[in-house]
Amino acid sequence: MMTETSSPPDAPSSSRTDAPMRSAATALFGTLARPVRVDLDAGAWMPERLIITIDGPAGTGKSTVARLLAKRLGVDFLDTGAMYRAAALIAVDRGLSAADGQRVVDRVRGVDMRFDWTTDPPDLLCDGQSVMKRIRDDDVTRIVSPIAGIAELRRVMVDRQRDIAAVHSRLVTEGRDQGSVAFPDADVKLFMFASAEVRARRRTEELKARGIPADEARILAEIIERDRSDTTRAVGPLVCPADAQRVDTSALSIEHVVDELERRVRAAVAADRLGSGGAAGAP
Ligand code: DC
Repeated sequence: MMTETSSPPDAPSSSRTDAPMRSAATALFGTLARPVRVDLDAGAWMPERLIITIDGPAGTGKSTVARLLAKRLGVDFLDTGAMYRAAALIAVDRGLSAADGQRVVDRVRGVDMRFDWTTDPPDLLCDGQSVMKRIRDDDVTRIVSPIAGIAELRRVMVDRQRDIAAVHSRLVTEGRDQGSVAFPDADVKLFMFASAEVRARRRTEELKARGIPADEARILAEIIERDRSDTTRAVGPLVCPADAQRVDTSALSIEHVVDELERRVRAAVAADRLGSGGAAGAP
């Protein structure tokens, strides 16, 4: 069961503070050249429905970028990785593994999983309890990719994601299969990537900035393994949709990536308005 709080889909996110997001961004990409800009003028150019998908491997800064982009545009942000992490947490808590397939799906179905859209980022609640901190722990991270490979579980999650988009029709949704499976008719599809080495370095720096000791070689090995698992699973593998715009984040600061994505989204919306039908193919 997936339900939602009643906050309006287009609540002005610019009223929320930038500070936590900026520090997370700084930890991920290093010192920002300029402060994050918030577009207070969102809305005038905004269509009624705008589904923007951002897919890509772990460590490209997708979540941070997707969140900042949503904030700039004044739309909602859906972290689908958090949903799979919550499913993995439910499995861990009940002593289940991916090998238990259907039992994991049954357990996940039995949990009331909902986002609280009044917080930034939206808080993920399982049976009323926030799981946002717990789902980043090592024991959850270790099994989330195989758990996300359970075909029936993916169907459940994709249904829930579509239900959310039906209510939150202006949405930046981020994951692995958002443009390919969940929202094949999305208005703008983006695919972020960076070399495994760059991603391992960023993750190491992020952990060190939080005072957590980090072994870059081990992190690199884990990233390579997670990429392999995410790209080779039979259902909902990580793929770049043919009609997605690819963005290499290896050499870009987070603010530059957000600038670039915002530019592309605006160009796509403008092209669509002009009737060129070029939303997904805008430069
Ligand atoms: O983005 P993340 O690291 O929080 O994702 C956690 C895991 O969930 C990762 O192994 C990929 C998987 N995932 C997925 O299979 N499909 C999605 N739409 C989002 C995440």
